[in-house]
Amino acid sequence: QEDLFKNVISHAKEYGYIFASSEIYDGLSAVYDYGQNGAELKKNIKDYWWKSMVQLHQNIVGLDAAILMHPTTWKASGHVDAFNDPLIDNKDSKKRYRADVLVEDYAEKIHQKAEKEIAKARKRFGDAFNEEEFVTTNPRVIRYRKERKEILERLAKSLTEEDLDDVKALIEELEIACPESGSKNWTNVKQFNLMFGTKLGASAETASDLYLRPETAQGIFVNFSNVQKTGRMKIPFGIAQIGKAFRNEIVARQFIFRQREFEQMEMQFFVRPGEELKWFEHWKETRQNWHDSLGLGKENYRFHDHEKMAHYANAATDIEFNFPFGFKELEGIHSRTDFDLKAHEEHSGKKLRFYDPELKENYVPYVIETSIGLDRMFLAVFSSSLKEEQLEDGSSRTVLKLPAVLAPTKAAVLPLVKKDGLPELAQEIIDELKWDLQVQYDEKDAIGRRYRRQDAAGTPFCITVDHESLEDKTVTLRYRDSMEQKRVKISELATLIKEEVDF
Ligand code: GAP
Repeated sequence: QEDLFKNVISHAKEYGYIFASSEIYDGLSAVYDYGQNGAELKKNIKDYWWKSMVQLHQNIVGLDAAILMHPTTWKASGHVDAFNDPLIDNKDSKKRYRADVLVEDYAEKIHQKAEKEIAKARKRFGDAFNEEEFVTTNPRVIRYRKERKEILERLAKSLTEEDLDDVKALIEELEIACPESGSKNWTNVKQFNLMFGTKLGASAETASDLYLRPETAQGIFVNFSNVQKTGRMKIPFGIAQIGKAFRNEIVARQFIFRQREFEQMEMQFFVRPGEELKWFEHWKETRQNWHDSLGLGKENYRFHDHEKMAHYANAATDIEFNFPFGFKELEGIHSRTDFDLKAHEEHSGKKLRFYDPELKENYVPYVIETSIGLDRMFLAVFSSSLKEEQLEDGSSRTVLKLPAVLAPTKAAVLPLVKKDGLPELAQEIIDELKWDLQVQYDEKDAIGRRYRRQDAAGTPFCITVDHESLEDKTVTLRYRDSMEQKRVKISELATLIKEEVDF
């Protein structure tokens, strides 16, 4: 798994998808830049989400709120008081960690021990192996699983109850050591607010404190009445937004999975109080269908329903994805009750209500939220598409089997040789296709190497122009996934490709 993850990171760099931010200065931790292909893939994911959420829903509209908001927003939302991570310092190494992550990593190690026992038994018993029976009868596996469960439950309890001393006690009882120095000499656990602060105003005296938004959702809540009234929206309706969010994450690892600057695609769906659980189920299903439609593999997804949730939520689930480092949260779906709108009413003194003509009643709507990290979706798409394939002739190829609808370049146009008018014809084909499709020209190296390069870059189609093309206006169309090649008319190219890549 570790190798797979390393491959993903190096492939993303080599093919112009993701670079470390300000790399010439050795990068900035947990901040990344999207390269020429990454920018296209990211844009295509956004478009795919926007089309399905906004364009295909008559009762959902878009919004593009500012990153900077009035500071009271974050007081009302609870972020000033409660958007914290529990941190612990190691006294010897002077390194800082997230206390909960130290414990979770420890629990993960126990999980791995159990998995190892299972794998060993599977090897020993071969076809006769019955996993279900083994995990319920093997004393070691039972002990590991019980221990892990107890640790995670105790951690969750102390975090919910803000009993940070107990988190420290847990770290000491488990004898968790600093990964760098092995030291077990820890400070107390303290809360650290994740919001990035900044200043508004030119002079130090008049400047006021602002925050870079840690989520896009609040821009939607504060605009509830603006959109509802000007759009004459009737409940149930939704407001969708894509935009940057910032969090001063302490555990900066797992590549673009956990960044300090990232993008969210969020939708707040406003419903009648009492109908929220019906809509919660609706959005759970709708969002899963959206993921299924991309074909990343049903086995790579799982729902994690929350038993314990934030005080304002009455139902919550995570859609988890099988990332190269295991199943982790990709998207959250929350039933947030009327918590946010009510809090903004209180802090602003403005009414954020809806007059329901059917009920002849004024109320603060309840909210179902769907919130997905664009960068996490990017990583899900990219990592699950990267394959090393053994071919029939004994050779192997690296292929990035991105869903064609999301691929940065839809087709590469390749003249077989750099002479005899083939480059000119290739250019003519590009000039025609480029109005509808992102296409690329490539004439360097032998044709086989160019195919491999496009496979690795994720391009679903190659169009090869040869001498015959000059005569009969046909070209070879090669499919990335099957490597099948077909002779097709130049005039049919656009239709054939668009059939596969349009959404
Ligand atoms: N408005 C709800 C909200 O912000 P969240 O679970 O904190 O909820 C929603 O974030 C989604 O944003 C997550 O499911 C994840 O995909 C993404 N996300 C959160 N923190 C992130 C980070 N540091 N880097 C990248 N994506 C992140």
